[in-house]
Amino acid sequence: MIKTMKILAIETSCDDTAVAIVENGRKVLVSLVASQEKIHASFGGVVPEVASREHLKAIYPLIEMALKRAKLTSGKIDAIAVTTGPGLLGSLMVGVNAAKTLAWLWGKPVINVDHIVGHVYAAALNTPKLALPAVALVASGGHTDLFYVGNADGKIRHLGGTRDDAAGEAFDKAARILNLGYPGGPAVAKAAARGHAGAVALPTPLSGQADLEFSFSGLKTAVSRVSGKPSDIALTFQAVVTDVLTDRLVAAANKMKVTQLILGGGVAANRVLRDKVANVAAKRGWRVTIPDSQFCTDNAAMIGAAAYYTRARLQRQWYNTNVVVD
Ligand code: KG4
Ligand code: ZN
Repeated sequence: MIKTMKILAIETSCDDTAVAIVENGRKVLVSLVASQEKIHASFGGVVPEVASREHLKAIYPLIEMALKRAKLTSGKIDAIAVTTGPGLLGSLMVGVNAAKTLAWLWGKPVINVDHIVGHVYAAALNTPKLALPAVALVASGGHTDLFYVGNADGKIRHLGGTRDDAAGEAFDKAARILNLGYPGGPAVAKAAARGHAGAVALPTPLSGQADLEFSFSGLKTAVSRVSGKPSDIALTFQAVVTDVLTDRLVAAANKMKVTQLILGGGVAANRVLRDKVANVAAKRGWRVTIPDSQFCTDNAAMIGAAAYYTRARLQRQWYNTNVVVD
């Protein structure tokens, strides 16, 4: 019987260099993130060229540190997982090259992982068992997508997404308009905590539509035109965005007739969204899995989880020849 499978995962798709070691797709042995946030903050956004160079500086020391923290040698690693897209090309290439180099040095297979699928499988981390089928909402700086997760072998179906801006992007742009700082999500959430409900009004995007799509660019324009205190605008903005996200997730679950919800992506770190989704689920007797905040924003542990679940069949083929079994 196969005992354990340890995957070393690498994620460099945007501005965080991340390395993790995950056992059997669920147990996080170590998860390290070297954030470039402070470097990019002075530019008000991610500068691709700067990001690639910072990844290059961080990646190998981080891999070494991950092995050390997990008290493992390379011989104990069964496979290497790496994000191959979507993301900034120069940044992705640093991670992919590191993965290929390790694979060659250590004689281990590489498993390619889609970043968004990684955000879905973050839900499997440090939880007893991921109950499937489920519908998942991934809301991040680059994507806002709904998926049907059919089973644990990687069958994921896209149900809908944003027509324009991503939800996290909307948070980032609103924060810029309101002069709240970067990254926008936490800044808006912080300002909103001081805001007064009902002080300003903003339109609800695509309200009343039955489809599973999102649109946030109109809301961004509305934020730039409305007058009021930044904290009040932030509060209303956050309320509108989290309402729309929750509404569409519920609609997706109804459409697919599932009772398990998954939330992922950087925006899932938002407290108001987490509470709203938890509430609607509780009312209906549905289950909801929301990863720890550290696994909502970009990290490598989720890439290790996705690699394990989506490539289970392939892994079984090479596993027997490489690893001691009992
Ligand atoms: O998943 P992620 O770390 O990177 C991407 O793949 O994009 O998501 C980053 C996004 C940013 O737009 C950030 O503003 C947003 O997630 N975010 C939040 C919060 N924390 C991060 N948005 C709302 N509330 C938060 N607490
Ligand atoms: Zn992401």
